[in-house]
Amino acid sequence: MTTRSLFVTRLYEADLTGSRGFDAGELSSAARDIADQDLAGQTWARDNGYGGYTSYASLNDLTRRDSLFDHLRKVLDSHVKAFAGELFMDCGRLKLDSLWINILNPGAVHSGHIHPGSVISGTVYLEIPDKASPLRLEDPRLPMMMAAPKRMADAPETDRTFVYLTPRVGTLYLWESFIRHEVPANAARKDRISLSFNYS
Ligand SMILES: [Fe+2]
Repeated sequence: MTTRSLFVTRLYEADLTGSRGFDAGELSSAARDIADQDLAGQTWARDNGYGGYTSYASLNDLTRRDSLFDHLRKVLDSHVKAFAGELFMDCGRLKLDSLWINILNPGAVHSGHIHPGSVISGTVYLEIPDKASPLRLEDPRLPMMMAAPKRMADAPETDRTFVYLTPRVGTLYLWESFIRHEVPANAARKDRISLSFNYS
């Protein structure tokens, strides 16, 4: 008797530390400077219950605003290309279509969501203080599992309904954009800072 894995969901992980074009400290200071100046983004965060700052709804020009972000784009391009190859995607070159800053204050959450309209999404982490939130990914089949029993507590990662990822500074995660994910409450005493993006 054998079992096979079908319809596999892949997660791509890399450490950008030391990569040419990536400096977590410089990107983080640039992100904080932009957050301090972006009144529209601050207002959006306040009006939408985002505990901290995000440029998601206010800025779409980070790669033109500061060359640091454009250098990062080139680094991300190569990782996304590699991941698309791992996924056997039969498509043309995927292009960055949005890149935004997330500064999550202590105690803040980012509730479950997907990234509609894109193919590959991801996050790179710039500041991960002690006890900073993990990233929680959800089995994309969950809405169809009406009568499926919950999985055993010691089930391997491949068979869990929720997987918690613990990034470090410099960690890059990529996933297909239909995968629902959330950031649970930030238990750190400091901000958790990351950059998220979509490729389409
Ligand atoms: Fe997201």
